[in-house]
Amino acid sequence: MSWSDGYFTDLEYTYGYYKDLNPSALRFACLAAGVEPPPTENLTYLELGFGQGVSINIHAAASGGEFWGTDFNPTQASHAASLHKASSANVHLFDESFEEFAARDDLPQFNVIALHGIWSWISERNRGFITQIIRKNLRIGGIVYLSYNCLPGWAASMPIRHLMKIHTEYAGSDIAGPAGKIDAAVNFAQKVADSGAFYFSNNPSLANYMKRINEHGRNYLAHEYFNLDWSILNFSDVVADLERAKVAFVTSAQLMDHMDEYHMGPDAQTLLSEIGHPILKESVRDYVVNQQFRRDIFAKGPRRLSGMELRETWLKERFTLVNLPNKISLTTQGPLGELTLHEEIYRPIIDILATDGFAPKSVREIMAHPNLAALDIGKLIGAILVLVGFGNVQLAQQPTETTRRQCRKLNRHLCQRALTGSEISSLVSPILGGGITVPPEHQMIMLAILDGQKTPVDQAKYLNAIFEGAGSLSKNGKPLAVGEATRNEFKSISENFSKEGGQDLLTALEII
Ligand SMILES: C[S@@+](CC[C@H](N)C(=O)[O-])C[C@H]1O[C@@H](n2cnc3c(N)ncnc32)[C@H](O)[C@@H]1O
Repeated sequence: MSWSDGYFTDLEYTYGYYKDLNPSALRFACLAAGVEPPPTENLTYLELGFGQGVSINIHAAASGGEFWGTDFNPTQASHAASLHKASSANVHLFDESFEEFAARDDLPQFNVIALHGIWSWISERNRGFITQIIRKNLRIGGIVYLSYNCLPGWAASMPIRHLMKIHTEYAGSDIAGPAGKIDAAVNFAQKVADSGAFYFSNNPSLANYMKRINEHGRNYLAHEYFNLDWSILNFSDVVADLERAKVAFVTSAQLMDHMDEYHMGPDAQTLLSEIGHPILKESVRDYVVNQQFRRDIFAKGPRRLSGMELRETWLKERFTLVNLPNKISLTTQGPLGELTLHEEIYRPIIDILATDGFAPKSVREIMAHPNLAALDIGKLIGAILVLVGFGNVQLAQQPTETTRRQCRKLNRHLCQRALTGSEISSLVSPILGGGITVPPEHQMIMLAILDGQKTPVDQAKYLNAIFEGAGSLSKNGKPLAVGEATRNEFKSISENFSKEGGQDLLTALEII
């Protein structure tokens, strides 16, 4: 068997950033579950199967601590190394397989071991190596973040993967390259669906599923469906597997999973409240919400915090907005239909967080505000959890000179890459300890700002000059001529970016 061990390597993986892997996000999820999180000082963090290395490099630059990671794809490991070179953060990157990495004898004890998008797509044997790594190298009190495809959400659509896979095996041709092979398999599955096959007509939800498959990029589809291994797992089986690594289930890292009233009606809530065993309860919950993908946190010796310890810890935690107040809608579409959050609770919290130029505020400070005097700490934390879960607020940390410097260097590199059509649409904040979405056109404006261009006119001139030297800019897939059109385009992007408050927010997050 080649180094790829059945894993699809003909197309590279995508360049996504995953904020669930941010040590601060993991800390928040542990606290929300009432469990002691790993310490933030001297963090040691391992990411297994880091893909293009976007998340590991962003977290290493922003959180400080010591980061280790491996991904056996040498092209991806080399991309990850280029990001490391830009930030000079404390990261040790390898292109070793899980088997090779498990055999190392120079690994430290880790506070966090994270693996996103790995567990379902590798063999049982490789899952065994990961279990060995966790067993041997996770510190007592350390946590594991693990995401995987699960049942029952996949039950109806699993046969579609089989259909596409056997098409590549029996009818696929290499002539059109790996992307062509995937296209042919997707088209074939669609053809079967369109033929009136009862499997599709008897499962009406599959029409939507086929639509989503058709919309995905081929690089994503390759890694999701075309590996030799593809295991759709039951939560309770994953818990049993992880027991061999001496870690126990703590909580879901998907924060909205903590809010049952968002996902299910009163009967299901009562049913769950009557189940005492945590693993059975979580399993039944997967049936109630038809769970398809889980992001779980496990811990080696999880310690439940007492009411007093938890309260004291929460009071000190600081939070920051990651979305502009006028962009935060209190009405959202949930699984049960439209949900409107209580204006009188949520709006004051958002307004308080927006004061002093969006400076982070502790729970103690938020609680002390006269507008929230009537709210007890439990309700306030519940509201913050919803704001964090919807991506409007995040835990804030105290940056150090090192994290500031590393973030500045990595951001400059990413903004420079935006000029040549980089696929990375995140920048890194030393306040967040992680990344935030910043579209490439704003990254380019930021590059002009970093290079001392203060006004939209100067920024536009500066960027136009770069494009005049190197080629042209495109908008909605159409090329824009350099010169006046490009200058106007950049000037208007910069004006809107500033007018809408985007620059102020990025300044507060110490990204600019
Ligand atoms: C679906 S991708 C997820 C990448 C990354 N965690 C992310 O979410 O962006 C799975 C990654 O695992 C890596 N991988 C698969 N099997 C591996 C093995 N046996 N040893 C090391 N890396 C492996 C692949 O190269 C790929 O980059």
